[in-house]
Amino acid sequence: MPDMTATVESLPILLVPEPILKARSRSVGAADVERVRGLVPRMFATMYRAPGIGLAAPQVGVGLRFAVVDLMPDDKPAPIVLINPEVIARSDEQATREEGCLSLPGQYADVTRPARVTVRYTDAEGARRQIDAEGLLAACIQHEIDHLDGILFVDHLSALKRNMILRRLAKELRQKRAEAM
Ligand code: NI
Repeated sequence: MPDMTATVESLPILLVPEPILKARSRSVGAADVERVRGLVPRMFATMYRAPGIGLAAPQVGVGLRFAVVDLMPDDKPAPIVLINPEVIARSDEQATREEGCLSLPGQYADVTRPARVTVRYTDAEGARRQIDAEGLLAACIQHEIDHLDGILFVDHLSALKRNMILRRLAKELRQKRAEAM
């Protein structure tokens, strides 16, 4: 975990079936900026400790359009804050990779998405930015933007696969809670 978040308190990560995970978040406006600034370090701390490579605001109970991402290339932090992100171009070429989600702990499945995307967003300093992403970064950013629209990676699967994963998760969480009592 990078030192910059060592003293920052984590936030509880909401799990499926929390309703906010299925809701569309609203855009971050000028009045939200202070709140977002306060949440971003805590979201990074939560994500690094989980550990994960992306965390969207609804996963910590905040219905605003922003997410944090860090693929830790070469094990070094490379934090990205995506505020009001928008996919403005996507490749016809698709790519399939295994995805998981901190809101569906222990569950993984192959998800097919556009291989490359161009994303426009505002960064933590308020600057408008554009990024061309491919590979894992493209999948991760699309996964996080999906969260802002109430879409989970399992929503990209067949109903059969999705229900199998959701049933397995519910069962595992029930068992965990029973063990904790
Ligand atoms: Ni996720």
